Amino acid sequence: MSELGLGENERLFILTGAGISAESGLATFRGSGGLWNGYRVQEVATPEAWETDPELVWRFYSMRRRDAMAAEPNLAHRALATLEQKLGDRLYLCTQNVDDLHERGGSQRVHHMHGSLFQSRCVRCEKPFADRAFYENAAALPVCTTCGAAVRPHIVWFGEIPLKMDEIYSRLAASTHLLVVGTSGSVYPAAGFVQIANQGGLKTIYVGPEEPLNAEAFDTIFLGAATEVLPSFLL
Ligand code: OAD
Repeated sequence: MSELGLGENERLFILTGAGISAESGLATFRGSGGLWNGYRVQEVATPEAWETDPELVWRFYSMRRRDAMAAEPNLAHRALATLEQKLGDRLYLCTQNVDDLHERGGSQRVHHMHGSLFQSRCVRCEKPFADRAFYENAAALPVCTTCGAAVRPHIVWFGEIPLKMDEIYSRLAASTHLLVVGTSGSVYPAAGFVQIANQGGLKTIYVGPEEPLNAEAFDTIFLGAATEVLPSFLL
């Protein structure tokens, strides 16, 4: 942990974004090759899109399920899992990603603030459940086995509130270091964590191949791919 400079009683909050899964072959959202280039955000990732065209929404998330199932965790996911083994409870991993590559890379405790690709929930009962199925035509859209209402992806869409924000803010307040990996700093509230960290006196570090939009808020920026930079944090 030489690069992080974490002392014995210090605590690390990690925020990851799409960039950490880029080298596993999963498209990021913005920039060339971004996922939204093929599908417009408004068409697939809002409550309004769901109201208008649930079939399109389910086709989109079925495609993302397929892509995530075909992907493998990379060295960056594995490095964070190793870090968790070393730090235990002193590490809190919060991801904006809905894929399961952190878990498959060995991380035990991951908070998915934007939901999980492999969970769905009834719009009425609201309880999330494990679901790895593909729903790709109107006749096959899922309904709740208990109440018969529609079943939607357990994903936080634009305009919805990310999951467990209270827990996130209290873990942020209890940490001494914030490490942010592979996120463009353009989607709030996650993009604002670094400002909160600065107010709380945390040391703030960013890792990614280019500067994020909120670059000026970080103490240190390591420019490089997550798979190259993160393993060096373990030395
Ligand atoms: P973005 O697509 O906005 O940003 C991806 C970031 O990853 C960019 O800053 C890239 O420079 C960086 N990157 C690319 N390759 C990398 C690599 N090998 N190692 C490290 N970084 C790399 O993705 P997010 O910031 O995660 O929300 O997007 C935030 C949210 O917007 C997503 O969670 C999603 C989306 O709309 C919802 O679905 C609610």
